[in-house]
Formats: sequence, C-alpha cells, structure tokens
Amino acid sequence: PIIYVVTPTFARPHQRAELTRLSQTLLLVPSLHWILVEDSAERTAAVAELLAQSDLPYTHLNVQTPLAMKLKDSDPNWLKPRGVEQRNEALRWLREHRSPGDRGVVYFADDDNTYSVKIFQEMRYTQKVSVWPVGLVGGLRYEAPLVDNGKVIGFHTAWKTHRPFPIDMAGFAVSLSLLLTHPNARFDPDAERGFLESSLLGQLVTLRELEPRADNCTKVWVWHTRTEKPKLKQEDMLEKQGRGSNPKIFV
Ligand code: UGA
Ligand code: MN
Repeated sequence: PIIYVVTPTFARPHQRAELTRLSQTLLLVPSLHWILVEDSAERTAAVAELLAQSDLPYTHLNVQTPLAMKLKDSDPNWLKPRGVEQRNEALRWLREHRSPGDRGVVYFADDDNTYSVKIFQEMRYTQKVSVWPVGLVGGLRYEAPLVDNGKVIGFHTAWKTHRPFPIDMAGFAVSLSLLLTHPNARFDPDAERGFLESSLLGQLVTLRELEPRADNCTKVWVWHTRTEKPKLKQEDMLEKQGRGSNPKIFV
C-alpha cells in the first residue's frame, strides 16, 4: 500500500525550514506520496520550487481558509481550527483520483511535528484506522490509547477527556478504502476545539475497531513539537537604510 501523507501548510518566515525537515524525513519512507495543501489563494513559487527539487512523488494543492475562520497574527493559535479546509481538499483529491481497488493509507502530517520513520512502518498495513501514542501533547508527556488484549479500551489523556476520540491528528492513519467507501466523511470546520479529529473518526470507526500499533501503544514515535516564531526585527531597519534583504532569495 502507498502511504499518502497529507500536509496543510501556510506561508510564514520559517515555512520552508519546516517543509525541508519534513520532506527529508519522508525521503526515508518507501512507497509514499506527499499531498501538500497550501492555505493560500494561489500555489506559491516558494513551495512549488521546494517540492520540485524534493525527490518525492507529490501533489501540490491549495485552498484558502475562509477569512472568518482564519487566525489573525495576534490571535492565540488555539482560537480557531487550523488546516481543516486543506485536509478536506486532499480528501476530495483522493476521491477523485483514486479508486476502491487502490491500496493505500492516509496520514495527516502537520508541517511542524517530528516524525520517526518507525511510525510510517507501523501505519502501512492499516485495515481501517491505526492508532498510536503522540508525544508532547494535551498538556502531558504523551497521550495514548490504552490497550488490553490487543484492543483499545480507553485513552491516556487529561484534556477534554469526553472527546469521543481523544487522539491528536498525528496519532492515527486511515485506510484509503475506508475513505473511499465513506465518500462524505470529512473534517468538520465547525467542530468544537479539540473535536476536529473526532469529527472525522466518528464517521469512520468505533472505538473497538481501532488498530493499536507501536507495541500496543507503548512507544512514542511521533512528537507534537512546535516551532518558535523567528524574530526578524532587524529587517525593517536595514530596509530603511536601503540595504534590505533580497526578496528574490527564498528562505
Ligand atoms: C493541533 C493539532 O495537532 C492539529 O493537527 C490541529 O489542526 C490543530 O491542533 C487544531 O486544533 O486545528 P497545532 O500545533 O496547534 O495542532 O496546529 P498547527 O501546527 O498550528 O497547525 C496545524 C497544521 O495546519 C499545520 O500543518 C499548519 O501548517 C497548518 N495551518 C496552520 C494552515 O494550513 N493554516 C493556518 O492558518 C495555520
Ligand atoms: Mn503543530
């Protein structure tokens, strides 16, 4: 089966640093197809160029988050869901370009997390939905499904424990065929904070059907890391002095 990695991404000073790091992790994974979806009105040259020289099989898409749903620079990052329209656009693309006979698994990999190649080995033979622990998330060292006799019986979580599937986006993968046989399953842009993952998974599986991976969910092979915003205070000063950075140089 091919692993389809779906990554929403948006323009910011460190975007290409994030995408370079992620793309070079993905290079270590055989039989993979990267679906990169920009949160923008147009596909940008900065991302197109990075993809073209990445050596990965990829599809470059874009869809802009509606203005009313978009975070402002001053907003705390948790105020609105992020990457929703972009992940749904990738689902739309897969349904249009892949057919029920195609074997695959879909993983929603944000551009700022840290991924071990091991997590890709774990997800490849997903029947319906595979799950595993995620490090550094939910105010804990890790969140994880609790497993008994090879079945998920609950979750190690502390935040909004009433979530139907208290699993971060990085903690599950879905078989392509399950997505194709549920053509209306998608992420709900209006889902309450923390319920985005549940909004998709609830349409696809029950708790009893989840397939625990990573040694019965005892290994952390993906981390919900976040990148510090770069400080670019000196840019304005140089600009005023007529010695500004060359805008043609991609950073
Ligand atoms: C957590 C989860 O890990 C995300 O998967 C989930 O989308 C998010 O919460 C949520 O509640 O919406 P967090 O680290 O807070 O993640 O989210 P970000 O990393 O800031 O964004 C998730 C993805 O969306 C990233 O790949 C990012 O590049 C993309 N994004 C972010 C956009 O496409 N547009 C934006 O305006 C912001
Ligand atoms: Mn993130």
